[in-house]
Amino acid sequence: MTLSTKKQPIGVFDSGIGGLIALRKLAELLPEEDLLYLGDTARVPYGNRSAQTIIQYAQECTRFLLDRSVKHILVACNTITAVALGHVRQIVPPAIRIIDVIQPAVDVVMREKYQRIGVIGTRTTIQSGSYELEIQRRHSEYPITVHTQACPLLVPIIEEGWETHVATEAIVTTYLSAIQQAGVQALILGCTHYSFLAKTIQKILPDVHLIDSGAEAAKVVAQNFLTQPLQVSPERKIECYLTDLTQDRAQQFLGFPVVIQKAEFGGFS
Ligand code: DGL
Repeated sequence: MTLSTKKQPIGVFDSGIGGLIALRKLAELLPEEDLLYLGDTARVPYGNRSAQTIIQYAQECTRFLLDRSVKHILVACNTITAVALGHVRQIVPPAIRIIDVIQPAVDVVMREKYQRIGVIGTRTTIQSGSYELEIQRRHSEYPITVHTQACPLLVPIIEEGWETHVATEAIVTTYLSAIQQAGVQALILGCTHYSFLAKTIQKILPDVHLIDSGAEAAKVVAQNFLTQPLQVSPERKIECYLTDLTQDRAQQFLGFPVVIQKAEFGGFS
């Protein structure tokens, strides 16, 4: 059994604050591990941008994590997973494992044998057809019907802190109406930001199992590390970087004290 002498953090990144849910879950599941978060709050939302721009941003965020010697990367963003995952892989050394958010959510569908599911996400994620493709790739023994809905207003609403605003429930109800009529058994929150609206979504679809893509991905990362030897230092460090510091709710979402620092890279120094 080899113990590493230098503690390397697990890196997590997202276009904004959505990935904090995955970070919180990781902090809970892996109390010994150092964690490093990057939220690109200066350029959020990614979901309405071109694939080329998302690829460029995703690679810049990845380099930021690599420069800080992360040992594992959780891409806590469905939009990046949908259009830029292969490009992230291209710049990451093979020794560093990358976990995305789409496969773990589909794992839940397969495990629970759901036959009618809904997927909500950004316009880019939904247009990419990534969830349908991942489901096809698994060759299920029974047909799985997938109802998708792009919800482009939801990321800005969440970044603005409007989760409990009266207008938000009306918007979410409108977005979910076709999925509600389809009588799905489960709904994938195919955007990590949407966890912040889980209560509202559950109120509209009380009998539907909500699958949180960020939290499910965090569980997969945790499984990879729980089977590995513990590292030397019992002290853990959680670092949180944002490319724009106007977002002051990160602390509140995490539920534990963390210093939020300004990320210096690309056009953000
Ligand atoms: N949290 C990101 C996702 O999972 C939001 C993307 C965006 O910035 O629009 O897709």
